[in-house]
Amino acid sequence: MSDQAGAIGVFDSGHGGLTVWRALQTRLPEQRFLYLGDHANAPYGEHRPEEILAMTRAGVERLFELDCRLVVLACNTAAAVALRRLQEDWLPGRPGRRILGIFVPTVEALTGVAWAVDHPERQVRPEDPRRGIAVFATTRTVESGAYGREIRRRAPGFTVAEVACPGLVAAIEGGAPAEELAGMVSGFCRTLAQRMAAPEAVVLGCTHFPLVAAQFRAALPENAPILSQAALSAESLAGYLLRHPEFAVPGGGTRFLTTGDPRRIAPRASALLGESFAFEAAGAGLP
Ligand code: DGL
Repeated sequence: MSDQAGAIGVFDSGHGGLTVWRALQTRLPEQRFLYLGDHANAPYGEHRPEEILAMTRAGVERLFELDCRLVVLACNTAAAVALRRLQEDWLPGRPGRRILGIFVPTVEALTGVAWAVDHPERQVRPEDPRRGIAVFATTRTVESGAYGREIRRRAPGFTVAEVACPGLVAAIEGGAPAEELAGMVSGFCRTLAQRMAAPEAVVLGCTHFPLVAAQFRAALPENAPILSQAALSAESLAGYLLRHPEFAVPGGGTRFLTTGDPRRIAPRASALLGESFAFEAAGAGLP
């Protein structure tokens, strides 16, 4: 990493955002990143919305303090619960800072309507396309209703089936055997099948779930395409930096911070992602 100050912040509740960071770093290797995993409070999917808002705000604040002017929320639960509230109520007091959220590029790709458009409901295309979209996510993400709300605001003809997957993040983080993970995933896919027989697109709306993509692929109808949130986010960030070059931070390299114990986190992350990660303690000031 060069000596130039600053980095693009990537925030997640723990390990899941590393799947997003990997896509960002692959697409934009010249950019410098600073990853913060709030492992001390993970999994977010088990917390109340007000707690998720407070923890996400604290994490973003820490990244701002560490000279990140742009922070990507690489956690669907944090983004679904907190993104709009932080953007509308908190960010205006922090000039020159921006927050992007993981589920925004997915919603834009599904509907073809940009997030930033005011009154997207008035942008509805005349042909009013109809598609069935399946979203697998944490309980809190599903309860927030963010995916369904944001997709239908832009594409009222779409049907969105959101399926909560309680326990799946903990099982992935805990290193559960592949057969156990496959059993859980099959159960969630059966729940979907009762509500939507033939989804035209499937969103793995939790950044941990690409780690069990093979189990989802095996349990879903063969012709149901699974969107890659990480790739969509990387493409979206590349476009954002072209439009807003003032947020680019050339230099390359990534530092990994955690609110948990780096000695425990690093080997676990390395085992899950199949590459080695050197985590450092995030320092004081986080919940
Ligand atoms: N990886 C987070 C997400 O994308 C959820 C994990 C958690 O519950 O902390 O939703």
